[in-house]
Amino acid sequence: MASENIIEVQKLHVGFERKIALSSLSFSIQKGERVALIGPSGAGKTTLLNTLATFITPTEGELQITGLNHQDSKNRKKLAKKIGMIRQQFDLVSPLPVIHNVLAGRLADWGFFKSLFSLLVPQEKTLAMKALDRVGLKDKLYARTSTLSGGEQQRVALARLLVQKPEIILADEPVASLDPARAEDVLSILAKLVTEENQTLIASLHSVEYAKKYFTRVIALRDGEIFFDLPSEKIEDQNLAALYELKGKS
Ligand SMILES: Nc1ncnc2c1ncn2[C@@H]1O[C@H](COP(=O)(O)OP(=O)(O)OP(=O)(O)O)[C@@H](O)[C@H]1O
Ligand SMILES: [Mg+2]
Repeated sequence: MASENIIEVQKLHVGFERKIALSSLSFSIQKGERVALIGPSGAGKTTLLNTLATFITPTEGELQITGLNHQDSKNRKKLAKKIGMIRQQFDLVSPLPVIHNVLAGRLADWGFFKSLFSLLVPQEKTLAMKALDRVGLKDKLYARTSTLSGGEQQRVALARLLVQKPEIILADEPVASLDPARAEDVLSILAKLVTEENQTLIASLHSVEYAKKYFTRVIALRDGEIFFDLPSEKIEDQNLAALYELKGKS
């Protein structure tokens, strides 16, 4: 049923000056899927995530998110509430206490004065506490964010998502700067939270192992096109060898 599709992409094309970054991509994603985007450097993963996040306007093609047409500027605000983003650099304000960064997830819903006032007296403190508890950082509510380790900061970014409650989470290499143990820790929390909240997750990754372990589906991009799109358990070594094969090799 078409209405189950939370994201529908038809013949999407994104170009930068003379460079074609994404070429004629078509796919749909259903609510609750956990999709890993993999592929060699320059394949178009970040461009696709930024296009889904409405930061980039496609050159051609159709894009619908929760049935809302992406190109219609009237939908921008509605889409901003439905989409949450995490990046490699976490986008946290490091001199501020953790609680402020978690509550930043509410900014799209709060008015200007409530947001400003919350910097002095954090509003909805219980909400922040519950979210931090779920990511295992209950005791860090008032810690200065910059004093936390990379893995802990990424958990703060997850707590912020819990507070924002977006329907769709887009993550661009969310664990690239973490050591393997912290990376697995963050990915397993992320996969668990997304499943509990029935959210849809799309994340770019350089680790095929993590893609297979924590995601239900893998979309592989190469040169701006879909190279394969498979359920995680169906990926074979030969698919991966072909995906990452260096050009010019015969
Ligand atoms: N703002 C831009 N202007 C011009 N070209 C761009 C721009 N952003 C991306 N590109 C180009 O588009 C292509 C896709 O880049 P993108 O960053 O999406 O790749 P990626 O798959 O995320 O790579 P990586 O794994 O290295 O992060 C690359 O060739 C890149 O040079
Ligand atoms: Mg990238």
